[in-house]
Amino acid sequence: MAILDKHKVLETNVTLLFIFSFIVVTIGGLVQIVPLFYLENTIEEVEGVRPYSPLELTGREIYVREGCYVCHSQMIRPMRDEVERYGHYSLAAESMYDHPFQWGSKRTGPDLARVGGRYSDEWHVEHLKDPQSVVPESVMPKYAFLERTPIHSNHIEDLLRSHRAVGVPYSDEMIENASADFRAQADPDSDYDAVLERYPGAQVRNFDMQPGISEMDALVAYLQMLGTLVDFSTFTPDESR
Ligand code: HEC
Repeated sequence: MAILDKHKVLETNVTLLFIFSFIVVTIGGLVQIVPLFYLENTIEEVEGVRPYSPLELTGREIYVREGCYVCHSQMIRPMRDEVERYGHYSLAAESMYDHPFQWGSKRTGPDLARVGGRYSDEWHVEHLKDPQSVVPESVMPKYAFLERTPIHSNHIEDLLRSHRAVGVPYSDEMIENASADFRAQADPDSDYDAVLERYPGAQVRNFDMQPGISEMDALVAYLQMLGTLVDFSTFTPDESR
């Protein structure tokens, strides 16, 4: 068995074994990675998915800042128990504008990928201020300070710009109008048509029902849009990919 004798040389020489292992792993890696460079997009595009509006994006920043992801995931797996509890399994496209993504691996609380529209704004405000007042056995911390913390739109253009830098397709027009859109979305008396044109399906309300724009407004605006962009009554997966 001449060939096995040659293999013995590899097995008994650490340096040679290392070099040949390296070559094998490199070839295997290239076979997996190179095709990705020739695909324009690895995420199937889905109708309805759009970048976050300035108010929603600010709410998302607060979500990340407060570490909500430590207890909540945002990814419904395609398994029966999850789909029955939370709704349609999550699509890759639904988190394509998430930087960083919020899929998560720990669920002390429920998954939030489709929490939008499940409760009223009042419920969210009460629940965030004092979770135990709504769900007595809840271990979720209180976030009452959000309602007392006003936010200004001073840095909103920079926030959009930073997301554009990592690939979210915010246009110059969106960035120019970010501050106005931010205020208009939280004020049902404003002229908010332009917000809806730029961010179809955006919900316009005074989310915390208090005058002014607080962190509570932004966070509730974000929670209420989660999982609402894709119309699953008409969605059909593209089988060809
Ligand atoms: C220590 C873990 C923990 C943290 C941190 C936490 N939560 Fe929760 N959350 C829970 C638990 C447990 C529940 C289930 C009981 C309840 O409804 O309060 C819950 C429930 C919820 C619900 C209701 C979900 C549903 O489908 O019923 C929402 C919305 C929510 N949390 C939002 C948030 C947000 C926003 C933050 C960050 C500001 C946050 N949570 C931080 C543990 C946590």
